[in-house]
Amino acid sequence: MNIDTKITPRLKMVADMVPCCHIVADVGTDHGYLPIYLVKCGICEKAVAADINEGPLGAAKRNIAGTRVKDRIEIVLSDGLKSIHEADCVTICGMGGELIASILEHRKEGMVHFVLQPQRSYDVLRCYLAEKGFEIKKEAVSCEGDKMYCAFYAIYTGKSYAIGEKEALLGKKELHGDENLYCEYVEYRRKEIEKALKSMEKAGAEGERYIQLKNLLEIFKL
Ligand SMILES: C[S@@+](CC[C@H](N)C(=O)[O-])C[C@H]1O[C@@H](n2cnc3c(N)ncnc32)[C@H](O)[C@@H]1O
Repeated sequence: MNIDTKITPRLKMVADMVPCCHIVADVGTDHGYLPIYLVKCGICEKAVAADINEGPLGAAKRNIAGTRVKDRIEIVLSDGLKSIHEADCVTICGMGGELIASILEHRKEGMVHFVLQPQRSYDVLRCYLAEKGFEIKKEAVSCEGDKMYCAFYAIYTGKSYAIGEKEALLGKKELHGDENLYCEYVEYRRKEIEKALKSMEKAGAEGERYIQLKNLLEIFKL
């Protein structure tokens, strides 16, 4: 298997944010493509491919078995970080911000670097990181088909910091390497909310969620 063909632009963005390290634990690994790529590229010496479900872990096992780096990737059935005991970097991708935050509650000593790619609830995750002392050092955006994704690289310092509404929702422009792409991403997020509002109006479903989204739209003007 040529792993480069399996790495999507979203996962490549995540891989590019992982610093050179000893052990990366990929939580919710599913297919295992990310840890395979990281070890093959020499970004980490070893990796842990972890998932809470046997099905995805079986797929990871098969994919890892077919590579020359199979002896350097441990496959672990784990609910979040609970059964992972050693890693200096943790990647958690393709899950909701609330779930990622709940997984981070089980951070262990020595887990310092984090690359996180939430699918939604970015604001919930950024607020959690600020409160618990994970300093966001870098953000990036990638495009896959007609979708845009954002990922962040954070370091655990244990020192909490204040975060505003707009920063929680959209991150900080200065943390992005490509400011034009960041502006496109902000526009993408704004359009997504407008689209959702329009379909709610069409369906006559202007309840609590509708008001929440209307309020979110106001944050873009700040
Ligand atoms: C949408 S997939 C994302 C796969 C991969 N990380 C990616 O970004 O392409 C989410 C994966 O997270 C796993 N998962 C969900 N909750 C989890 C938890 N609490 N601990 C570990 N894995 C979890 C699921 O079984 C699933 O394989």
